[in-house]
Amino acid sequence: MKTIRLGLIGMGNIGRHHAGYLMERKVGRCELVAACATSAAKLEPLAAKGVRPWTDADALIRSGTVDAVLIATPHYSHTSLGMAALEAGLHVMVEKPVSAHKADAERLLACAAARPSQVLAGMFQLRVEPRYQRIRRLLSDGELGRVVRVNWINTDWFRTEAYYASGGWRATWKGEGGGVLLNQCLHNLDVLGWLLGRPSRVRGFCGFGRHHAIEVEDEVTAYMEYPGGATGVFVASTSEAPGTNRLEIVGSRGRLVLEDGRLRLTRNEGDMLEFLRTAKGGFTKPDVWNVEIPFDNAVAPHAQLMENFVAAILDGAPLIAPGSEGMLSVELANAIVFSALEGRDVELPLDGDAWERRLGQLIASSRHEKKVVAGGTDDFAASFRR
Ligand SMILES: NC(=O)c1ccc[n+]([C@@H]2O[C@H](COP(=O)([O-])OP(=O)(O)OC[C@H]3O[C@@H](n4cnc5c(N)ncnc54)[C@H](O)[C@@H]3O)[C@@H](O)[C@H]2O)c1
Repeated sequence: MKTIRLGLIGMGNIGRHHAGYLMERKVGRCELVAACATSAAKLEPLAAKGVRPWTDADALIRSGTVDAVLIATPHYSHTSLGMAALEAGLHVMVEKPVSAHKADAERLLACAAARPSQVLAGMFQLRVEPRYQRIRRLLSDGELGRVVRVNWINTDWFRTEAYYASGGWRATWKGEGGGVLLNQCLHNLDVLGWLLGRPSRVRGFCGFGRHHAIEVEDEVTAYMEYPGGATGVFVASTSEAPGTNRLEIVGSRGRLVLEDGRLRLTRNEGDMLEFLRTAKGGFTKPDVWNVEIPFDNAVAPHAQLMENFVAAILDGAPLIAPGSEGMLSVELANAIVFSALEGRDVELPLDGDAWERRLGQLIASSRHEKKVVAGGTDDFAASFRR
């Protein structure tokens, strides 16, 4: 196999974005040969360019005409379509989140684990952004010393009521499985886990439909504790303008701040914990020096991840975002909401079955009336140009 025959499932906001760069042949050794949407009209522009249209995803998966699929549909179907594709022998790139909740993610990952010759990857494109790659390298090189605290204020995911009304699945327990954590901030939760691993305990405080006419969370403050003793606070909102995106990681050797397109390290001359134990004066502090760490933004990050997916299939290259690593962000999103609903700490690893049961109750008891209004002419790509 020299070229991957790719099928794209889902032609909404992100599906059309994927189709755009794939048709421009921005991903080498990959040909978009089939696309599937629930409405045939959405497929006409691609069909006119020779891409075979399908309105039944299972039929496309079983057709024998594709080697791999890119799943860009609403959250719950990531598991059902992902498993169907794996069972049909296909490689799978699944949009984030890998599943709508942890128990579903476990089903999908078990299905992939039973088929080690097939590739399951997740579309976590922040992992190719140089700013996060630099932070990850600083951490793994021990430049920050022992991490003691992480704070991430993620309130620049502003969304209007028109956004929530643009799809029947959006912002419902039944259609999406969660709100700002599972959708917008899932990218940030993925990066957080990629940088610092899994916390051992979380306590979440959520506003459910605090500022929007929705039933899921649109405002979050979460406290986290890590096995190594570090603590964290994660703040998220889709209701704040202008909003803030500030990631601060404090280690014993200094403080790293990513904000407003700048990455700055204030480096302690020595280890602050050692200093506080050994300094003679009571009000003295370690000397510091300031380092500005330059970075560019990734060019076409989704295409980069697809390029890596193709290389994993054809060359056995390591995945940047293996599907199995998609578990942590789902688990964190679920655990924070679970904690908020229960009003107590939640230990990690999360009991995925317990959350699935709770989610089932939320779905069964939902009285929320979802209003759907056809979308406007927004530039969707602006939503991730940040
Ligand atoms: N990685 C990113 O940058 C990014 C950005 C936006 C959305 N997403 C993710 O992509 C997914 C889709 O989001 P969206 O904003 O494009 O949603 P959307 O509502 O705009 O599009 C989803 C599309 O999937 C179609 N669909 C549903 N079930 C289908 C099926 N069985 N077969 C074929 N088509 C089906 C719907 O008709 C709809 O057109 C979500 O998981 C979302 O979280 C990722």
